[in-house]
Amino acid sequence: MKIVTLLGSPRPEGNSAAIAGRFIETAESLGAETRTFALNKLNFRGCQACMACKTKLDHCALKDDLTGILDEIRDADALVLATPVYFGDITAQMKMFIDRTYSYYVPDFLTKAIPGRLPLGKKLVFIQTQAQPGEKMFIDIYPKYELFFQFLGFKNNQLIRACGVNDAKDAEKREDIMKLAEETARRILEDAA
Ligand SMILES: Cc1cc2nc3c(=O)[nH]c(=O)nc-3n(C[C@H](O)[C@H](O)[C@H](O)COP(=O)(O)O)c2cc1C
Repeated sequence: MKIVTLLGSPRPEGNSAAIAGRFIETAESLGAETRTFALNKLNFRGCQACMACKTKLDHCALKDDLTGILDEIRDADALVLATPVYFGDITAQMKMFIDRTYSYYVPDFLTKAIPGRLPLGKKLVFIQTQAQPGEKMFIDIYPKYELFFQFLGFKNNQLIRACGVNDAKDAEKREDIMKLAEETARRILEDAA
């Protein structure tokens, strides 16, 4: 199984990266092949609405650090998106990636039963960290974005959430969350077997 992980936090050793790290470690120990990219270190832009992917190409026309990663995700079985909550939403870095997934949609995607260009049946693992301890706060973020991955044929998607984590090392101390990351990796690998 091939897993691509995108880290959306600018903190390389922060909470969302720590949870993603535990997920990846576990997946690798069970035989998964993994690739991890810190979006903050990449030179890339958000979607430019050039519509080339709807008129003349079957991929994004932009040539930057995200180009190869968009290709790797086409070939992956699972995509892990790890993001802190910034002002009630995902980080800007993660949003720029999501906007570039516009290139995964066919030209007439609004009327097609299968609107995406990706092989069907990939899985999304969404890791969300937030300082707010209240679990009802920012509960809307995952369903909002997961819906678009469903359109692209992702299924049996999983959410790992850590609420009340603020200092970079907080999540590491939350054994319940780290265990959930391990269990989620096991479940994803078992489903694929
Ligand atoms: C610019 C900025 C905006 C933030 N906005 C929120 C917010 O709206 N709600 C919240 O609960 N936490 C917010 N936080 C806190 C982070 O979500 C929290 O510290 C998270 O655990 C960071 O994850 P990381 O260590 O992976 O970067 C914000 C932090 C920053 C730097």
